[in-house]
Amino acid sequence: MSNTFPRVDGVLTVGGVPVDRLAARVGGTPFFAYDRDLLSGRVAEVRAALPAEISLSYAVKANPMPAVLHHMSAEVDGFDVASAGELQLALDTTMPADRISFAGPGKTTDELVQAVAAGVTVELESITELARVRDVSERLGIRARVALRVNPDFSVRGAGMTLGGGAQQFGIDAEQVPAVLAQLGDLDFYGFHVFAGSQNLRADSICEAQRATVDLVLRLAEVAPAPVRYVNLGGGFGIPYSARDTALDLAPIGENLAKLADTSLRQLPDARVVIELGRYLVGEAGVYVTRVVDRKHSRGTTFLVVDGGLHHQLAASGNFGQKIRRNYPLATATSESTVETVTVVGCLCTPLDLLGDKVELARAEVGDLIAIFQAGAYGLTASPTAFLGHPPPREVLVGGKAHSLGENKCRR
Ligand SMILES: Cc1ncc(COP(=O)(O)O)c(C=O)c1O
Repeated sequence: MSNTFPRVDGVLTVGGVPVDRLAARVGGTPFFAYDRDLLSGRVAEVRAALPAEISLSYAVKANPMPAVLHHMSAEVDGFDVASAGELQLALDTTMPADRISFAGPGKTTDELVQAVAAGVTVELESITELARVRDVSERLGIRARVALRVNPDFSVRGAGMTLGGGAQQFGIDAEQVPAVLAQLGDLDFYGFHVFAGSQNLRADSICEAQRATVDLVLRLAEVAPAPVRYVNLGGGFGIPYSARDTALDLAPIGENLAKLADTSLRQLPDARVVIELGRYLVGEAGVYVTRVVDRKHSRGTTFLVVDGGLHHQLAASGNFGQKIRRNYPLATATSESTVETVTVVGCLCTPLDLLGDKVELARAEVGDLIAIFQAGAYGLTASPTAFLGHPPPREVLVGGKAHSLGENKCRR
């Protein structure tokens, strides 16, 4: 993390701005800061590893902050949204509607109306959803563009979260797809989407899932009412959250996709092939910054009590998507003094609000800032902000030329 967010005079910087100055600029702590250059850099890395013909879509659910979305709209080829709220945010950017897909179970009819009127791709999750889209389409006089989200007949190994295979609320079981295709009526059939799992650090299992997905799509294409123009292979690329995790190696995934593009996928010459990533694109570009409000000792343990907590960054407390609780990487952001072992807790009156259990940090006093890394994905919007009535955190996107500090820094 220290390379990603370098220190200047001992203080951690984000986008070139020291976090204490950023705290003053945004109006206080706690806050999430995301770095524009890291976002662009990550997209560039993915593009360099993947064959040029693969489209890159951003899953908005990972971080829907409007400034982040505006930035990403110029970086990626499409957006995937999971609600009418996300759809609205995506449409507010320069991303063309025909590059937006809407997946997710339980879309209400009002949401389907919005999606069809906007002209985005509706990813059908059930036969009953299909019936509602047909009604909406007729009512609005708009030929809705639809893809089928398929629950595959395999599951992916090594995923932190499995969303495909077995019985699922997501997608249409592969064996039911022919019957659903037969009932598409006048809808504009676009293609297929398979999303097998999330937070996977194993390139081999991602490759295996991609091969199995392509095989499945080829079988389904044989019974499709029109040529397949869209194949969304999902993603699930994970990021390391603890010292035990090894970063994902993109090279074998790129090679695997290149091979698929040169072989099986040639059978679908009209198809735009998409990889859909959320966490991998934004997760490491963000940091959650919170201030020490109390330092206390209890029976041999030194506690740092900070003004943030799980109500802003639930995942760091281990209560979102972790099977075994592990500390997220964290650091004292405003000091590099002697290292000590401390336990960092949030300000909520619950033992669940644990941000760092017996971690080695540079000694922090009341007023120092603590940074929690890997906070760019599933942070604020995946957290119970209303819990215990504390104020919400700020969010800021920094970095890039427009944000340089200029010459207005006083000598210390
Ligand atoms: C359909 C779909 N697309 C994309 C994602 C994003 O996954 P990740 O952030 O792990 O890349 C998810 C995650 O649940 C999903 O369900």
